[in-house]
Amino acid sequence: MSRFGIQPLVRALLLLAALQASVAFADDFSDPGRRIFESRCSTCHGGTVPADSAIGPNLKGVLGRKAGTADSGAHSRAAIESDTVWTRSSLRRYLSDPGREMPGTLMPVRLADPRQLDDLLNYLETLR
Ligand code: HEC
Repeated sequence: MSRFGIQPLVRALLLLAALQASVAFADDFSDPGRRIFESRCSTCHGGTVPADSAIGPNLKGVLGRKAGTADSGAHSRAAIESDTVWTRSSLRRYLSDPGREMPGTLMPVRLADPRQLDDLLNYLETLR
């Protein structure tokens, strides 16, 4: 089995986790970006998940960081080998359709609404 032969299974598990994430608890945070993060992202990217058991890379300091270089979570070969540096505009493109922007990425969640993307990016900028 190649080093990346496990990816179809990982992908299936990620899709299941994504479904669970979308029905996660409703909360009362007043920051709309934080609300989106807590309900759609934190299952995999931290928040309540300890960093060393997170499925997705930690998003603290993601702005300015090169894709696939976080010290926690799963990384695909697509992310590791990509030249992408995360800025507001590269994140906007990636988050609106990860598979189109980075074919082979393991990131299963898409956020198409431009207003929600703005709110979420404002929140991601505060994660330092
Ligand atoms: C089901 C788990 C899961 C959920 C839910 C999820 N992600 Fe991800 N995310 C991942 C995985 C796994 C990766 C690693 C992708 C790769 O290496 O190809 C990733 C990668 C990323 C990256 C690139 C990180 C880096 O360091 O290269 C960003 C940014 C990101 N996700 C943001 C989000 C946001 C914002 C949300 C919510 C809207 C979200 N993710 C929801 C699993 C998830």
